[in-house]
Amino acid sequence: MVNKSRNKTPVLELSGLSVVYKRVGRPALRAVNKVSLSLPAGGSLGIVGESGCGKSSLARVIMGLHPPHEGALLFEGRSIAIFTRAQRVQYRRRVQMIFQDATGSLNPRMTVRQSLEEVLRVHRICAAKEIESRVDSLLERVALSKKILDSYPREMSGGQCQRVSIARCLALGPEVIIADEPVSALDVSVQARILNLLLKLQQELNLALILISHDLAVVKHVCDEAVVMYAGEFVEVGCTLDVLENPQHAYTKSLLAAVPDVKRALRKQAVIKL
Ligand SMILES: Nc1ncnc2c1ncn2[C@@H]1O[C@H](COP(=O)(O)OP(=O)(O)OP(=O)(O)O)[C@@H](O)[C@H]1O
Ligand SMILES: [Mg+2]
Repeated sequence: MVNKSRNKTPVLELSGLSVVYKRVGRPALRAVNKVSLSLPAGGSLGIVGESGCGKSSLARVIMGLHPPHEGALLFEGRSIAIFTRAQRVQYRRRVQMIFQDATGSLNPRMTVRQSLEEVLRVHRICAAKEIESRVDSLLERVALSKKILDSYPREMSGGQCQRVSIARCLALGPEVIIADEPVSALDVSVQARILNLLLKLQQELNLALILISHDLAVVKHVCDEAVVMYAGEFVEVGCTLDVLENPQHAYTKSLLAAVPDVKRALRKQAVIKL
């Protein structure tokens, strides 16, 4: 793989990883089939593929929300399968996820202030007297005004809720952020701003970013590397530009051909550009 972060140590490595769902009265479903990848520290990887191809299943396994059926998942070179309890807790802090439904992923009964304070307190990120200033700096990081501190999720826009979700992740000082369709529920202009924020944070904080998206233009602009998933398998892995400009697999070719309007993609590029 050719990318600007190729010499960095992999923060995450997947080797022959599969996800299988057991189902009552039906055969088990193999949602992810023996996939392998290596994500360098500070690198960005886009995962593209049609609905149901296994993107979120893969994200959930990386997050430790579902056990892999087979294969290995290494974090900084060590298998998470043999992590001690303390290492598992650390892993859950260092690998964070943001979701498509930002409003729904926040506690509806908590204001922004309570939501950010809670994460700092529960994970004992800082001393009690530092919490207020930490909340302020998190808001600044995600470009939200302090005026929003006493708002509830239902009183905020989707973009504002997504910024709060990102701030909650950042509170834990992660090395990896997995963003599962983080902008697909938002208006196009808001999408671009959230993607720019993720890109800025990834670069400034040296975060490794896994961005799951249906949108090839989004992946092209945010990610160094891209994976195309089809029916649970990686059918294409490589530098994003190579994957998009020189697709090898028939599915990738059909995906690219399905982009209806190249001008639309180019317009998006202009919006997304920092
Ligand atoms: N908990 C589950 N139990 C059984 N089957 C599941 C479960 N979660 C997902 N699946 C199935 O696994 C397959 C992959 O689902 P997954 O949610 O990973 O796809 P996806 O690529 O994220 O799709 P989308 O783009 O629509 O979000 C689908 O066939 C789905 O129905
Ligand atoms: Mg999904």
